[in-house]
Amino acid sequence: MNKTIYNNLLVDISDGIMTITVNRPDKLNALNRETIREIGAAIEQGAGDSSILGIILTGSGQKAFVAGADIAEFTGISVEEGKKLSAAGHQVFKSIETCPKPVLAAVNGFALGGGCELAMSCHLRLAADHAKFGQPEVKLGLIPGYAGTQRLVQLIGKGKAMEYLMTADMMDAAEANRLGLVNYVTKGEELIPKCREMIRKISLQSPRAIAGIIHCVDAYFKEGVDGFAEETEEFGKCFGTDDFREGVAAFLEKRKPVFSR
Ligand code: COA
Repeated sequence: MNKTIYNNLLVDISDGIMTITVNRPDKLNALNRETIREIGAAIEQGAGDSSILGIILTGSGQKAFVAGADIAEFTGISVEEGKKLSAAGHQVFKSIETCPKPVLAAVNGFALGGGCELAMSCHLRLAADHAKFGQPEVKLGLIPGYAGTQRLVQLIGKGKAMEYLMTADMMDAAEANRLGLVNYVTKGEELIPKCREMIRKISLQSPRAIAGIIHCVDAYFKEGVDGFAEETEEFGKCFGTDDFREGVAAFLEKRKPVFSR
């Protein structure tokens, strides 16, 4: 087991799974600038380490995943600084979305504002049954700045996204599940084990094919990019990989494939 300490994160690597825990429990894990930067650095570390099968993002304590951007940092911000804050968040959250390995949000409590946006940048979301989601920025005279207006629409559709964005209502885990915002709801103590099980399941598949899936699904939402053309490109590339040769050989030899990392 390997442990790296950041100022605002706990980063644990065990059995090939990296767990990034936002660790500001006294502030309900609110995302200040430094925490966002550190998440970016930890994701980059995980993406670049061939021994890592997948990444879990979660929050410290039982109460909150992340209760939003750190509101204390908002006072005195100028229009230009506000734009920079949003752009910096977008960049880090995009690096999560395009990470070539599965990134799972283990939502263990409040996922509000930037917390909901952080969870939505992950490939899969699993929630404890007491988790609550929401985009309450309008209460503060703000709108979401870390792509909540975009990813919430992508995940639950325009009508319901409009409702939650405009009312600032919180959504419980069961409703989030019903709307497709989360993949699974579990009891609190089963949340991390279920995330680890899902990463292990995905890790049995071809890592290059998984990276291809992430790339192509991301292309679907990219302005000016033809996702169909991206798929054709990525599909073709598969035929030049050892993973493809191993996958087909294993099928013909009636055995399980063993993919290299
Ligand atoms: N930014 C900064 N600090 C935050 C925070 C945030 N987004 N969310 C919670 N905190 C801090 C509180 O200020 C409090 O700190 P203090 O003890 O130093 O006063 C601490 O975390 C505990 O929060 P508290 O509000 O006392 O807990 P609660 O159980 O009464 O309420 C919430 C929980 C999540 C409903 C409430 O904290 C909340 O509404 N947070 C803001 C959510 C939000 O608007 N997020 C979007 C930001 S753009």
